[in-house]
Amino acid sequence: MNPAVRAAVRVGLAAGHEIIGIQNGFVGLINNTLNPMDWMSVSGWAVTGGAELGTSRIIPSGAELYAIARTLEAQKVDALLMIGGWDGYQAAFKLHSERANFPAFNIPIVCLPATIDNNLPGSELSIGADTALNSIVEAVDKIKQSAVASRRCFVVEVMGRDCGYLALMAGLASGAERVYLPEEGITLADLQRDLMRMRHWFEHGKRMAVIIRNEHASRMYTTPFLNALFEEEGGDLFEVRQSILGHLQQGGAPTPFDRIHATRLAVKCVERIIEAGHARQPIGEFIGLSQGKVAFHRLANMPQMMEVAARARSMNGGWTYARSPM
Ligand code: F6P
Repeated sequence: MNPAVRAAVRVGLAAGHEIIGIQNGFVGLINNTLNPMDWMSVSGWAVTGGAELGTSRIIPSGAELYAIARTLEAQKVDALLMIGGWDGYQAAFKLHSERANFPAFNIPIVCLPATIDNNLPGSELSIGADTALNSIVEAVDKIKQSAVASRRCFVVEVMGRDCGYLALMAGLASGAERVYLPEEGITLADLQRDLMRMRHWFEHGKRMAVIIRNEHASRMYTTPFLNALFEEEGGDLFEVRQSILGHLQQGGAPTPFDRIHATRLAVKCVERIIEAGHARQPIGEFIGLSQGKVAFHRLANMPQMMEVAARARSMNGGWTYARSPM
């Protein structure tokens, strides 16, 4: 997120605008914790991971919407660039859809996709997903090296919520034997078949195997469950070790791709806001990269482009897609 903020601030300033940074996302808008950003306030942000401005996952409602409207009016905010993930998109959509009730929300609102989950509409790649993927593959490579001399199966759990992007790409890049995805779920029949295959491979000389499991691939067949199942059924053929990669996936310096991607999208967003700044109907849009092209989509169309039910399940600790019985 830092490279995106840096590019947005500097392109905006260079075009003669005042740029205000909001601390901790929509919480900052509610609490009126905004700071003017100057050229040097983003110095060094081109290469740093995380989000210096801070983030939050709040989707404002009720009195919070009033507070946001007051902040926008008090600070004379003319346009809003939201850099963030699913909740940020929902929050921006909320403001957009409340325009009739809150005149302060009648300003250009543009969203820029930034989440390791890579689960946002209109874009094949969100900022951060490439950095997370690199961290995962690096970790899996090291895990694999640790096993050169022993007969082991590793179960590696990766993040991504209800989107299997990180798991699938990490599986392809690291040569995993099996990937469990939330889009497919896990059935008992899958596990039986995978166990038989694993046993067959180790019986015929395999020395090491990797299974990548997305954190929401199944509500019941968790990573510890898979670990225990494969360990028990592997018998003397192989041992099993689990590795839940956790927050190492969220950190680290952004990859060159992410830095460039962030800069490119941020510049386009600021240009779009400036160019559409005087439109009679203020724009409400989100940017995305699709088939090599950068395009803007209307916020009003966002719900149709999102699988909201999947995220709702994940927020309730519920999930996952039930695959039809085999
Ligand atoms: O949404 C990004 C994400 O990293 C998910 O992949 C993961 O499930 C979640 O955040 C972890 O959240 P927290 O950092 O609050 O534990």
